[in-house]
Amino acid sequence: MNSILLIGFMGAGKSTVGSLLAQKLNWPMIDLDDLITEKIQMPINDYFDQFGEAAFRQVESNVLKDNLRTKAIIATGGGIVVSALNRSLLKAQPKVIYLKTEPQTLVTRIKNDTKNIRPLATEKSEGEIISLLNGRLTHYEDSAAIAVETTERSPEEIVEEIMERLAMA
Ligand code: S3P
Repeated sequence: MNSILLIGFMGAGKSTVGSLLAQKLNWPMIDLDDLITEKIQMPINDYFDQFGEAAFRQVESNVLKDNLRTKAIIATGGGIVVSALNRSLLKAQPKVIYLKTEPQTLVTRIKNDTKNIRPLATEKSEGEIISLLNGRLTHYEDSAAIAVETTERSPEEIVEEIMERLAMA
C-alpha cells in the first residue's frame, strides 16, 4: 500500500490539509518533521544550528524512505525536494500531491506563524524566502503526480479536490 504524500513550500498547509484528509479517509496521519524531531531528540532549529542543513537532509531522507510504504497520509517538510534522492523517491510514488500556493500568501503565513521556528524562514526577509521558493518550484512540480491550487481555498475544498483526483471520494 502506498502512502499519500503532501509536498509544498513552508506555509502551504501540508499539516492542516493532511490532518483533514486523514480524518476523511480514516487513515493515520504522519508528520515527517515530528518523526525527525523524535529521531534527533531536539527541535529542528537547534539541529540546523549544531549540525547544518546537509545533516538534516540526510535524516529527512531516511525517515522518508522508512515511511513511503505505510498506509498513511504523510505531510513532508517544505525542503523534502532539495535532495535529488528524495525527488526520485517521490517521483516513483503514484500519490504525491503538491500543494501549490501564491508566494505572497506563503510569506504572510510564515511570518504570522510564531509557534513554528523555521531555520530557513523565520529570520529571513521576504525576498530571501521568495528566492528560496523560486529555486524549488520546478522540483515540486516535477516530484508530484498531482498539483492542487490552495491559494484562497479552504482546507475542505482542497481535500475534496484531492479525494476526487485520487478517485477516493
Ligand atoms: C524546511 C521546512 C520545514 C522543516 C525544516 C526545513 C524547508 O517544514 O522541515 O525547517 O527547508 O523548507 P515545514 O514545511 O513543515 O515548515
